[in-house]
Amino acid sequence: QDPARWWPAAAVAIRQAIESGGVDPADVDGVGLTGQMHGLVVLDAAGRPLRNAILWNDQRTAAECDEIRERVGRQRLIAITGNDALTGFTAPKLMWVRRHEPDVYAATRHVLLPKDYLRLRLTGDHATDRAGASGTLLFDVAARSWSADILDALELPAAWFPPTHEGTEITGRISQQAATATGLLAGTPVVAGGGDQSANAVGTGVVRPGAAALSLGTSGVVFVATDRPTIDPDGRLHSFCHAVPDAWHLMGVMLSAGGSLRWYRDTLAPAMSFDELVAEAAEIPAGSEGLVFLPYLTGERTPHADPEARGAFVGLTVRHTRGHLTRAVLEGVAYGLRDALDLVTAGGVEPSGAIRASGGGMSSATWRQIVTDVLGSPLATIDTHEGAAYGAAVLAAVGAGWATSAPALTDDWVRELAHTELSDDVAAYRLGHERYRALYPALHG
Ligand code: XUL
Repeated sequence: QDPARWWPAAAVAIRQAIESGGVDPADVDGVGLTGQMHGLVVLDAAGRPLRNAILWNDQRTAAECDEIRERVGRQRLIAITGNDALTGFTAPKLMWVRRHEPDVYAATRHVLLPKDYLRLRLTGDHATDRAGASGTLLFDVAARSWSADILDALELPAAWFPPTHEGTEITGRISQQAATATGLLAGTPVVAGGGDQSANAVGTGVVRPGAAALSLGTSGVVFVATDRPTIDPDGRLHSFCHAVPDAWHLMGVMLSAGGSLRWYRDTLAPAMSFDELVAEAAEIPAGSEGLVFLPYLTGERTPHADPEARGAFVGLTVRHTRGHLTRAVLEGVAYGLRDALDLVTAGGVEPSGAIRASGGGMSSATWRQIVTDVLGSPLATIDTHEGAAYGAAVLAAVGAGWATSAPALTDDWVRELAHTELSDDVAAYRLGHERYRALYPALHG
């Protein structure tokens, strides 16, 4: 969490990558950046971090989210930023610092997202990408610029926020100091890059309107690229700028997807591997014989923007085995992803083609089949596995002039390998999803 410690570690990692990859730094035409979104890094006038970063998943800002809705008006906030006030976003974190750490706030002169602090150390420039800026709650997603209205309403100084760029634009060049630390050549261009979700979409070739991605890591994300900002008036989905020009995306985020399976394994079966657990689950019929798992272990964002939402196993009987419990976890996560997809289609955005799957969870054929059947849509696996890092490299390649646009590269560089098609279990999951959806409102009180 201490930004001052990120730079030496990043510099060593870059140097090692260059050396172990046998890369001639003179062959590096560009550098692209990606990283966690929403995090808050506050700097003094000299660009020194004033406190630890407050990361994307931090939930301390419920009171500030209420204050933002109060000051801006919830509907106006959603109409401008594409999002409701969520505890993880950057603006409420800055307001938390104003309220709880007035000395830090008084010394603040610059606000950056985590990856952009590394950009500052690489090039000396304050800058960010428009996909990342969309996750601050201070960005006008239709205009693709900071929102003066929101900044005024929240009384936050516009001068603290960096210039924003499209993901493929060059924001600066590797400084002499960074060259010495990393082994890159001074003068190498650095492009804006993108927040991890939009960069992951670029890295999986999800850039043209209608293309869809599903990533299942700790969190679970359903992502659809659009050619215009499409805003969920209830703010249950995120509407952000894409990392490529003239594109936006609609996104549903579950906080504990793979994270639910990890919690379950670590807590109830620490001696078992994920593969062993999932093999047991594969023997259990679809629907887990009535057992349902709610994955809201760290609160939720989509479809219930509720930091107080909680997980549950519902419907246990003596008949259920560990395999049932595991299968219920896999299915519960899939139902949550279906909720996100339903909101996307209800908003008039229809994914075209197979949904491109990535992330650790999707390497399991069993989980991929469950998610395919629950979503009612074929999933495609692809021939790249570096996700957001690959996307950042694509954006750097466009910035360096290798192609005129990201789609021109990804059409060629990212190929679908295989499709997981629907099985006979679809009807069982339809019933399971109905049960699942009834549980959050029933348990909420
Ligand atoms: C996106 C999101 C995560 C974080 C951390 O909205 O919260 O992707 O960027 O990875």
